Amino acid sequence: MHILVTGGAGYIGSHTCVELLNDGYEVIVVDNLSNSSEESLKRVETITGKQIDFHKVDLLDRESLNAVFNTTSIQAVIHFAGLKAVGESISIPLSYYHNNVTGTLILCEIMKSHNVKNMVFSSSATVYGEPKSVPIKEDFPVSAANPYGRSKLMIEDILRDLFVSDNRFNIALLRYFNPVGAHPGGSIGEDPNDIPNNLLPYISQVAVGKLPELSVFGGDYPTPDGTGIRDYIHVMDLAKGHIKALSKLESAPGIVTYNLGTGQGYSVLEMVEAFEKASGKKIPYKIIDRRQGDIAACYADPSLAKIELNWSAEQTMATFVRPPTGHGFFRNTKIRYSAGYIIS
Ligand code: NAD
Ligand code: UD1
Repeated sequence: MHILVTGGAGYIGSHTCVELLNDGYEVIVVDNLSNSSEESLKRVETITGKQIDFHKVDLLDRESLNAVFNTTSIQAVIHFAGLKAVGESISIPLSYYHNNVTGTLILCEIMKSHNVKNMVFSSSATVYGEPKSVPIKEDFPVSAANPYGRSKLMIEDILRDLFVSDNRFNIALLRYFNPVGAHPGGSIGEDPNDIPNNLLPYISQVAVGKLPELSVFGGDYPTPDGTGIRDYIHVMDLAKGHIKALSKLESAPGIVTYNLGTGQGYSVLEMVEAFEKASGKKIPYKIIDRRQGDIAACYADPSLAKIELNWSAEQTMATFVRPPTGHGFFRNTKIRYSAGYIIS
């Protein structure tokens, strides 16, 4: 089976390519490399010993995208491509809507014209906004607090409407909680270009002295230690969820929505402590004001995915931040990674 992976050179996409290739799928990747490098795909090929059919194409370039569909046989699309930085989306909303929403519209139009009707889409727990309670179930109300989140909600709505108009479409909307970690070999991982926004990449840069200390955003949340609680899901588990979703679309067509999370929440200070224990490095931190738009606690009820996909997260926090199992050099930076995070 041939799977088109949009955004396949990125963080979650590259890990999913590993799982797809290991499971015997043929993988075609379309990525404009705006937030990634072709090197990650080369490393996926090395890890798996298999080839990827890569096309450096922007989803907004209709002609080139159409050419990919003309020249390859595609049975399903896993759609990761998109811009994902919340703060940036507030500064440049039009670029976010254009890239994420228009890009998806063009992709769907081309899929329709080539009779490709299976899609797995990367949504986010951000669509739950401030949840009324935790754990969060798929039928909780949705809302958006910023243009990034709104683009995800818009795309979910577009895909739901597409299904209503043509129920031969099979669509899985996967709402990821907080993806972390990397392939155990350490040669691919999360590699933000600038100062990281997300917690674990930030902690890892503090661990190696690239950044002086972690600012903990808020110590006065109504949580046991006052810091924010999140559901950190290992990227390899997430990747496996996509394979399960593909199988589900084959066996039970329709439109489905699943939370991909562990069901377990950890506070910022618990993550710091776990990282210190695993890496043997001290993580200096100071508690500062809350970050605007953050919520106290967000974690999944992942039971629907367990029942309907037979998927659940296998890795625990201990394995997210374990000492090195392999040493990789990512993008030739000569930085040693531990499960995707720099430790020396
Ligand atoms: P990433 O930035 O590493 O990967 C996205 C990839 O898409 C990049 O390789 C980028 O170059 C590519 N891309 C962006 N716009 C494109 C376009 N117009 N045409 C072609 N390629 C384009 O991000 P990621 O963390 O791997 O996230 C993948 C998806 O999952 C995104 O849609 C993101 O919104 C969603 N998601 C991510 C997280 C997270 O924390 N990482 C959480 C929830 C949802
Ligand atoms: C962020 C995004 C969300 C996206 C998710 C996964 C925001 C407001 N939300 O969520 O849309 O789906 O990433 O990519 O950006 N923290 C610190 N110090 C730091 C960084 C983070 O204390 O330097 C805290 C945060 O306050 C939060 C937790 O760590 O409590 C996790 O933060 P982060 O990794 O940024 O993820 P989210 O805020 O959950």
